[in-house]
Amino acid sequence: EKKLTPFEAIGEDKLNRLVDTFYGLVAQHPDLAPIFPNQFTEIARKQKQFLTQYLGGPPIYTEEHGHPMMRARHLPFPVTPTRSKAWLSCMKQAMDKVQLEGPIREKFFSRLYLTAQHMINTPDGDE
Ligand code: HEM
Repeated sequence: EKKLTPFEAIGEDKLNRLVDTFYGLVAQHPDLAPIFPNQFTEIARKQKQFLTQYLGGPPIYTEEHGHPMMRARHLPFPVTPTRSKAWLSCMKQAMDKVQLEGPIREKFFSRLYLTAQHMINTPDGDE
């Protein structure tokens, strides 16, 4: 039998709810909100595309936007260690809210942890 991708195991509906819940929290986070646009519609759309392919689903981010190069795409924004922690904390809360649980959550979160570390491009205090 064929092993499900994490994308298939989580399901598109839950992934979309995760992303919407996550940006709802980002919008209210004092360390994060200032570097995001006021409208989260477009970033949520891109994040759904990105996470779909990150989790082994169809490459819909790359089809529309080209190679992800996530670190490069974040360079215009000061991503400090504090903001990286805040991002992960919003993601953890969003996972709680949509009840993403079990080993699939643990694996997904540890990958996001590494990606969020990799995105840091500015020391704390320099932003
Ligand atoms: C875009 C912040 C981590 C995925 C952005 C934008 C900001 C941002 C400010 C641009 C919003 C705009 O369009 O104006 C942060 C911060 C992070 C972080 C503070 C803390 C570590 C991550 C991680 C991922 C990610 C870990 C993926 C797992 C994306 C994607 C976009 C984006 C897909 C849209 C890129 C595009 O324009 O195509 N992020 N981000 N970010 N971020 Fe992050």
